Amino acid sequence: MSETRVLENAKIVTPDEVLDGWIGLSDGRIAEIGTGRPPERGADMAGDYLLPGLVELHTDHLESHLSPRPKVRWNHLSAALAYDAQIAASGITTVFDSLRVGSDVDGRSATGEFGAIAEAIESARASNLLRVDHRTHLRCEICASDVIEEATHILGQFRVDLISLMDHTPGARQFRDTSTWKIYYGGKSGSTDEHLETIIRDRVALHQANHDRHRGELVALAKSRGIVLASHDDTTLAHVAESAADGIRLAEFPTTVEAAVASHAAGIQVMMGAPNVVRGGSHSGNVSAETLARAGVLDILSSDYVPASLLMGAFEIANRIEGFGLNRAVNTVSLNPSLATGLDDRGALRAGLKADLIRVHMAGRLPVVREVWRDAQRVI
Ligand SMILES: [Fe+2]
Repeated sequence: MSETRVLENAKIVTPDEVLDGWIGLSDGRIAEIGTGRPPERGADMAGDYLLPGLVELHTDHLESHLSPRPKVRWNHLSAALAYDAQIAASGITTVFDSLRVGSDVDGRSATGEFGAIAEAIESARASNLLRVDHRTHLRCEICASDVIEEATHILGQFRVDLISLMDHTPGARQFRDTSTWKIYYGGKSGSTDEHLETIIRDRVALHQANHDRHRGELVALAKSRGIVLASHDDTTLAHVAESAADGIRLAEFPTTVEAAVASHAAGIQVMMGAPNVVRGGSHSGNVSAETLARAGVLDILSSDYVPASLLMGAFEIANRIEGFGLNRAVNTVSLNPSLATGLDDRGALRAGLKADLIRVHMAGRLPVVREVWRDAQRVI
């Protein structure tokens, strides 16, 4: 006999509205949602919100658990579990772990460690140690000399669920203005201006030599395996046209209003960083996520480098933009990223879907995660 669990006295955020009521969970699924009091007594949510478990497509936070200090490599399984716990406590129940391939001045391609990391996640999954459903997002720095070799190697050995195509050449896209690039990389590395100029020349040469050929090969690799493709830092209408022609489904962090508007109109889901929302702008001086939300072209938020920002970002959007609606804001961190990556069994509080949900208490304006369920099992 299946056990039914009822959660009552909650503000339930569905894709279309927020209602005062209750939710019934059964066999790992959402069985029923109702308004007012439930037919049978349930656990009292004390008026807190119930939201779908969040879906995160682009986080590199695993790296900071693997390498908590420069030159320190932490035990892979321990790092994976600490990361998993932090992701879950941030209200995220499905995460795309982002790993970078292609050497970059920003350093570390994950290729050398990819096997060990994938093994750590897999062994944790097999022992039922994970709180969150983990997927893999392969981030490809397309102008790097070694990117095709590394991506081919990984795709031959591991399951990959999302591929993004990045070009961080100074003077292009995210760093259209090379002085912004110098501040970003110079600040990280402490390099002299002369050294940075040399790097810029080398990177531009790599772009000219590799960009078009590598991009074509990576698109073909993804298509041959049916893997969803994302563009990254699209800036011009030409970038968007190229993305549309390549069958890209998701635009990560477009840097201008025109690129975002054109992507959205072409049916390419526009994803922006939640830290950008919370901080009130882009750390690279590009278009703000809030501007795109106000223009009606923000589809997805990603926590990027701060897991807790995903939930905060959704509530901030709903708070700041009159008429946007909490349900629509929550869709940007649950339903929309699910659908963009072909996961149609989750991402909303709707009967029949996976019972991935979170209880959120408001501490003033700050949303606080109190409980998390995955497949109707408490994981936080
Ligand atoms: Fe970028």
